[in-house]
Amino acid sequence: MRIPKFAEKPKHEPWKWLNLWLNDAELEGETEPTAMALSTIDKQGVPRTRFVLCKGVNEDGIRFFTNLNSAKGNEISDIPVSSIAFHWPKMNRQVRVQGNLVRVSDLEADEYFHSRNKLSKIGAWASKQSQPLDSRETLLKAVSEFSDKYQTEVPRPPHWTGFRLIPDYWEFWQGHDGRLHDRWVVRPADDAWLSWRLYP
Ligand SMILES: Cc1cc2nc3c(=O)[nH]c(=O)nc-3n(C[C@H](O)[C@H](O)[C@H](O)COP(=O)(O)O)c2cc1C
Repeated sequence: MRIPKFAEKPKHEPWKWLNLWLNDAELEGETEPTAMALSTIDKQGVPRTRFVLCKGVNEDGIRFFTNLNSAKGNEISDIPVSSIAFHWPKMNRQVRVQGNLVRVSDLEADEYFHSRNKLSKIGAWASKQSQPLDSRETLLKAVSEFSDKYQTEVPRPPHWTGFRLIPDYWEFWQGHDGRLHDRWVVRPADDAWLSWRLYP
């Protein structure tokens, strides 16, 4: 394992740090470096967590794409807040981020959708994400039907789009021997950044 570098602390512009760590994770050969656990809350106040792929981090926030009619889509529409966590075992690192969720524009969703491979685009039409499915054959039949329907251009389904997490809490965690880990919080405050250490 590479010796983790954490000499300089993320005190401001945390999105740059997250991009650095994502890059490190990819270089280190993590299996799914962009996978993040995304938690939402349902109307009963029950938290629900699943993995999604992070599709971009910048000063505007952290972006992912999904189906609006899925369980998470409904939860986000009712309560647009989320907590996410990345974990890169080879780097012994974790990043947690919390904030509100906003939907990306249709233009942005179109742009990303059209960068996907054809089967993923067809899958977005064929999958009634989070609905009960009687058999795998039913799903494959839907894939075949949508493949016939959209032989050249596959339009973006109206129920498929992206969300951006607008962070108000970031926490960077670097593991160390003896569980003497390094934890560093960064929060936006007016036109500045607040940052402080936490006990591990
Ligand atoms: C590594 C990984 C990445 C995933 N990426 C996505 C994704 O980007 N978008 C998505 O909708 N589901 C993704 N999934 C599937 C979700 O975890 C989940 O099963 C699905 O979105 C339905 O969740 P829901 O019923 O809570 O809405 C991914 C699963 C894994 C294991």
